[in-house]
Amino acid sequence: MSKPFYVTTPIYYVNDVPHIGHAYTTVAADIMARYNRMCGREVFFLTGSDEHGQKVEKAAIAGGETPQQLADRVVTRFQDLWKRLNISNNDFIRTTEDRHKKAAQHLFKHVMDKGDIYLGAYEDWYCTPCETFLTELQLVEGACPDCKRPVDKIKEESYFFRLSNYQEALLKYYEEHPDFIRPESRYNEIVSFVKGGLRDLSVSRMSFSWGIPVTGHPEHVIYVWFDALTNYLTSVGYPDDMARFEGSWPADLHLIGKDILRFHAVYWPAFLLSAGLPLPKRIFSHGWWTVEGEKMSKSKGNVVNPHDVIDAVGVDAFRYFLFREVPFGLDGDFSTNGLIGRINSDLANNLGNLVSRTLSMIEKYYGSRVPYRPEKDALSPDDRQFADLLENLHGEVTAHMNQQTFSKALDTVWQRIDAANRYIVTNEPWKLASEKSDRLEPVMYNLYEAVRLVCLEIYAFMPATAVELWTQLGLTRAVGALEDIVPRCASVTEDRVRREPFQWGWVKSTPEQQITIEKGRQLFPRIEKTEKNLETKNEVKKVEQTAPVQEMERISIDDFAKVELRTGKIIAAEKVEKSDKLVKLQVDIGTETRQVVAGIAKAYGPDVLVGRNVVIVANLKPAKLMGIESQGMLLAASDENGLALAGFERDVAPGSRVK
Ligand code: MSP
Repeated sequence: MSKPFYVTTPIYYVNDVPHIGHAYTTVAADIMARYNRMCGREVFFLTGSDEHGQKVEKAAIAGGETPQQLADRVVTRFQDLWKRLNISNNDFIRTTEDRHKKAAQHLFKHVMDKGDIYLGAYEDWYCTPCETFLTELQLVEGACPDCKRPVDKIKEESYFFRLSNYQEALLKYYEEHPDFIRPESRYNEIVSFVKGGLRDLSVSRMSFSWGIPVTGHPEHVIYVWFDALTNYLTSVGYPDDMARFEGSWPADLHLIGKDILRFHAVYWPAFLLSAGLPLPKRIFSHGWWTVEGEKMSKSKGNVVNPHDVIDAVGVDAFRYFLFREVPFGLDGDFSTNGLIGRINSDLANNLGNLVSRTLSMIEKYYGSRVPYRPEKDALSPDDRQFADLLENLHGEVTAHMNQQTFSKALDTVWQRIDAANRYIVTNEPWKLASEKSDRLEPVMYNLYEAVRLVCLEIYAFMPATAVELWTQLGLTRAVGALEDIVPRCASVTEDRVRREPFQWGWVKSTPEQQITIEKGRQLFPRIEKTEKNLETKNEVKKVEQTAPVQEMERISIDDFAKVELRTGKIIAAEKVEKSDKLVKLQVDIGTETRQVVAGIAKAYGPDVLVGRNVVIVANLKPAKLMGIESQGMLLAASDENGLALAGFERDVAPGSRVK
């Protein structure tokens, strides 16, 4: 069996409240895991929680709990968020688990037996909130350079790791593995840091007890970073199941934020070199999110809670935004306008339009039957060119995914979406249909394949949406669910990638075995910014999207004449109790007064409605809304700025016909 693709996130401090930064690293790992699984590789995806240390101990004591009780209580905040974000981790490791204690002690002892850990005395500045020892030089105005809080001088007996002995070995490794640390700027940063000289590292503490005891010296607990980094070994069987371990280690990818790069790119490889274990293949360090241009901090109260964003825009739109907006590796800014802008332009407009136009046309021209596949050789040069463009998509996206250049991967997909939308405009399928042209079928097949191939490439980023789109394409029923069928059909062998499902023409609907689409709910609704504004509350509203006019069914003037539109004047208005949407109106339509219940309360209060000219559908059958009879309907439109009632530029007598 080949080694699984092994991807990790940092293990998060259990006492933190998860925010967008944590979500960012974890979703990135999920994207890598899902993409690789989809390509047929076996994947092992690990995340977890970092539960030891002085901070947890102090917080627990302050709250009258044991540290373990505190950890057990708050770890669910992360686990719940990962469920909600659709994170497909294979294991969740907690550093307080026995398997992990054993692994950390084993690694520590191994390195000690090797002669790389010795007993000394430690004296330095220590920042408790950051759990970091600092040298005099690192302090900024006598305080912690990261959190700016005061530091304490600590002197205690401590075990030291001979990091200084590994300077040359590390530099050699970096040189021989230029891909080891990504992006390149971070690689350069680490190389120059290590060239500057390495001091031995204190790897045990006596000043608190909430940690893993050093075997044989229980008055020392293992330094949190030595403990935490070992989690990457624990989860794959170290030290008890070495057969499994050897089949899984090294990790292919450690995903981390730039703040914890040194621990991963200097200390961790040095520990592993000392223990004689292989080094991870790549450490990718991503940037940090600011919020509306400012650093995120509890004191500023601007910490973005992922749950709020999900409530407002949905899981997949949030996942998409994080990776489209900012190149992975650079810092980015989280803003309401950025979020809504991206969703509306990329998802609702570009992708949403392509999907709804394609599916509506298939419904209309073929009674939902997936168009038959043309022979590639028989395609016209334009259609052939478009088919080739689609077929190259997977290779291009995979190349970006292998480098974790996620925004470029998405950019590539959206270029194809744009090309497909242009293909519709240029080829005008509605004309081909009215001319009964033979070209309609190849054009529509190409569009179907465009949506299908895009669906595969967005799966890792927006899994639930892609799975649903796959069903709407009729494929779940015809071939099987995306998550089951594609990995099986696309299994990767060491040197050869089978890529059938990613090829143009994989779907074949035949007269004997027809595939039919199942148009379902609108997958990419527009998001409207509410008056209350998302900047503070993340409150946005989804707006239904309309199909492009040229694909709607045409009606005759006689059909239109059946709708009796009249002008009216609102003479009374009151809110409907227990409803935040409905108002009850009395509308003067000249010959009589009609009672109309309208869903406009969010945009118009009763006081601004009285006296207003409106357009009413006067021959609609009466209906009951929340038990109240409504004898007509008002015309209104909504866009991203909200709802607006139709009216007239001057007062028109009530009861006039609108035509
Ligand atoms: N427990 C350690 C990691 C040990 S791994 C062996 C730790 N935990 S943490 O809870 O502080 O979270 C770490 C992750 O969250 C890091 O990858 C960090 O970069 C990320 N982020 C925290 N704030 C962030 C932003 N504002 N923006 C992006 N990511 C940020 O460190």
